[in-house]
Amino acid sequence: MLGLPTGRTPIPLYDALARLHAAGRVDFARATTFNLDEFVGLAATDPRSYHAFMRRHLFARVNLARTHVLNGTAADLDRECERYERAIVRSGGIDVQVLGLGANGHIGFNEPAPALHARTHRTRLRPATRRANAYLFGGRARAVPTHALSMGMATILHARRVVLMATGSAKARCVDRMINGPVTPMVPASFLQLHRHAEVWLDRAAAARL
Ligand code: GLP
Repeated sequence: MLGLPTGRTPIPLYDALARLHAAGRVDFARATTFNLDEFVGLAATDPRSYHAFMRRHLFARVNLARTHVLNGTAADLDRECERYERAIVRSGGIDVQVLGLGANGHIGFNEPAPALHARTHRTRLRPATRRANAYLFGGRARAVPTHALSMGMATILHARRVVLMATGSAKARCVDRMINGPVTPMVPASFLQLHRHAEVWLDRAAAARL
């Protein structure tokens, strides 16, 4: 059972998995995936949705049969979040949760705030996060939906293993705060310090402040 992120950071990982699959070296037939988050208001068929992102970068290139992405157009978004939590539990829980890192310290769409949500929930996106996602919307931050659905902090922290990937100098400050700073909801990724089996994969630029 894999938990998967979107964003530019995991694209080389998805490319590598697709290459390994094409070479007959990875078989996904028995794998199940759950994605971290999705924009509210975008259907799975919308090319700007995270669902479409995953199809493009991974699902259409490998033999995954059981993929799950939150439905941002569900009539009742709270029920959709509850359904997703139950589906994760029914599938046996997440073995490896792969994460990217928002430049503001978010993981999934758990944005910095005085208090964080434990479970899958609807959230309002920060302006910086909408700007960071503008590349999916023709560069227009204002076209990025204002809300999203996201796994919560407990959903993520209950994964048996967590692998967070961060690349590029824009993440360096946040990587330092995540690893060396206090555990604080103002840097949601800092909660990974509490996980028994969390790994952080960085390039040199992202590791520059360590
Ligand atoms: C989005 C996603 C996050 C992701 C972040 C970083 O906001 N919701 O899960 O980690 O982007 O994106 P990038 O890898 O493009 O820097």
